Amino acid sequence: MVLKEKNILIGVTGSISAYKACELIRTLQKKGAKVRVTMTPSAREFVGELTFKALTETEVLSNWKDGKTGLEHIFWARWADSFVIAPASANTIAKLRYGIADNFLTSVALAYDKPLVIAPAMNTKMYENKATVENIKVLKERGNILVDPCEGILACGEEGTGKLADIDHIETAIIYSILPKPFKGKKILITAGGTREFFDPIRYISNASSGQMGYALAKMCYSLGGEVVLISAPTSLKKPYGVKVIDVVSAEEMFNVVIKEMEDADIIIMNAAVADFRPKEYSSQKLKKSKEHPVVELEPNPDILLEIGKRKRSDQIVIGFAAESENLIENAKNKLKRKNLDVIVANLLEVFSKDRHKGIIIFSSEEILEIPELSKEESAYFILKSIFKF
Ligand code: CTP
Repeated sequence: MVLKEKNILIGVTGSISAYKACELIRTLQKKGAKVRVTMTPSAREFVGELTFKALTETEVLSNWKDGKTGLEHIFWARWADSFVIAPASANTIAKLRYGIADNFLTSVALAYDKPLVIAPAMNTKMYENKATVENIKVLKERGNILVDPCEGILACGEEGTGKLADIDHIETAIIYSILPKPFKGKKILITAGGTREFFDPIRYISNASSGQMGYALAKMCYSLGGEVVLISAPTSLKKPYGVKVIDVVSAEEMFNVVIKEMEDADIIIMNAAVADFRPKEYSSQKLKKSKEHPVVELEPNPDILLEIGKRKRSDQIVIGFAAESENLIENAKNKLKRKNLDVIVANLLEVFSKDRHKGIIIFSSEEILEIPELSKEESAYFILKSIFKF
């Protein structure tokens, strides 16, 4: 939905990580994007043109002479909804800063009138060189989107900053470059994952929540311009790019962080699967096997959303989620009223912890909207678009 039918141009420059552009192409194509590649002449020393031709099923341009009309740099710049240069070498970054158009990639960049997505990759010394630092600063000031490289062991054997950013991060930056910014200046609080309620140092009660929907909502809210704080119970997911993540474990911990963070939040999305009960006793020693069956007595956890509903100001929008095994509409409507919500997103348990989602959105006006079956990421976008009508 977000990337479907979008035209993404990938510019590959001369870096050892040029091969990682293949994974980026596949990631974007899987989400429905149409991808083209332009590579600098030195990038061709690292990866063969044929690889990109085969992946994109279209021509790959590097030089003026490659095009049929000599005007392809203009046509490709017009075609692209997003132009991402990944990996971007120090040399190409310098050319972008000064508007040098000595190959096809840099010529398209000059003819492109939207913010570029630039993902640098190079040796640490080159990255930290004052010239590169200044070039990147100027490119950022011009409104281009820089995806900072990460730390690690580089191809040259040195350790430091300069590794191409995660493909996930680059993909988020591309989505960011495409979407409107209705959440600019808004703080959005999102909870995700299933809380864990420990009764000894290694054993706990929890649920099967994967956290995918909350993480997808965080990714989309960031891409729509929001300042996102994600309060996450344990999950196996990677931290979303551009989002402040606060890790918590138990419902009580989540409660304390949410109540503090909701003060200055404009939008609160409570997606976490909070354990309703916790063990009454905690043993600091690992419980030993005994002949008798151990009994773990439970006591209720705080209902975080109920408390949010009580404290919410009229300028705050609160969105809850409901997972039901039956009577979806009736149960969700009751939760919406009881917890004083603006909107509730409800689904049957069949999508719980799965990759795909479908359900309904119920507004406090009692209007009901159906969410079609979509990936969690597409569904997150659909839900936000339906509620905030951008
Ligand atoms: N929720 C919460 N704190 C809890 C339990 C739930 O904040 N202790 C929130 C969830 O994050 C979700 C909403 O309340 O946004 C509904 O959660 P759900 O588990 O569907 O319902 P419950 O309120 O727990 O009611 P029940 O288990 O009886 O269906």
